[in-house]
Amino acid sequence: MKKVLTLCTLLLVFLANSQLSELRSPTLTELPDSLHKRDLIELSELFNTDKQPSFHNFIDLYNRHLTPLQDSVHRLLEIGIFNGASHKMWKCFFDSVEVYGIDIKEKPWVEKLGIHTYLANQANREHLQTFIDSSGGSFDVIIDDGGHYMDHQQVSLGFLFEHLNEGGLYIIEDVHTSIPAYYDGFGRDSTLSNTTLKIFTDYIMNEDIESVYMTEQEKVYLESWIDHIEIYKRKNSMHSTAVVIRKKKKR
Ligand SMILES: C[S@@+](CC[C@H](N)C(=O)[O-])C[C@H]1O[C@@H](n2cnc3c(N)ncnc32)[C@H](O)[C@@H]1O
Repeated sequence: MKKVLTLCTLLLVFLANSQLSELRSPTLTELPDSLHKRDLIELSELFNTDKQPSFHNFIDLYNRHLTPLQDSVHRLLEIGIFNGASHKMWKCFFDSVEVYGIDIKEKPWVEKLGIHTYLANQANREHLQTFIDSSGGSFDVIIDDGGHYMDHQQVSLGFLFEHLNEGGLYIIEDVHTSIPAYYDGFGRDSTLSNTTLKIFTDYIMNEDIESVYMTEQEKVYLESWIDHIEIYKRKNSMHSTAVVIRKKKKR
């Protein structure tokens, strides 16, 4: 009897693991209906995105901001696709959403799941313009989980904020790359005057946007359309930091 129970347990573990590897595999051709509108934290773990609790835990932030919007986010862009984990998660989570992704590498297996993928460098305004012309822009949520370099984060924010709907959310992940004590490189200058984190700490002090990577027009646009910002910092081994920017509703 004991042997039969052990065998059954092993079989169940095997089946659960093979279902998980199927969900995370590039060969997946359909997102199972059973995952539709499931809990966001659970989905982050099922798809194994680095937003999950045991990694950066940005999912805690998303859960707070996006769970109340589960039925009202219809267009979402996330820069940085990698293996498609978070794009699959968004497609399952919201009631009815068109999910868009930008990456410097082709992601045909993600496109097959009904996620709109575009080849573009987030630091290149011409690429971003081509993406907006083709996708139509007008996003309710934009997430930057791309290259995490200073110019990547700031060119994308400057260019794309105009294409966020009123009241929408713009989230920049991995802003900890601005902090030299924790991360090397990422295009910071030696005086740290160009970091993405500095933009927001300065904004808190004087409500001006200063960035060497943005045009004058983009900076003025941001200053007049930011409703509020939130700097999110976790005490973990990666020093995970993100910034959430909410766009005003003018009417
Ligand atoms: C951290 S991974 C994205 C993970 C994914 N968002 C998730 O949560 O499952 C970063 C991705 O950004 C892409 N990337 C790097 N530099 C980029 C750039 N300049 N423009 C667009 N994508 C870039 C990489 O190719 C990689 O696929």
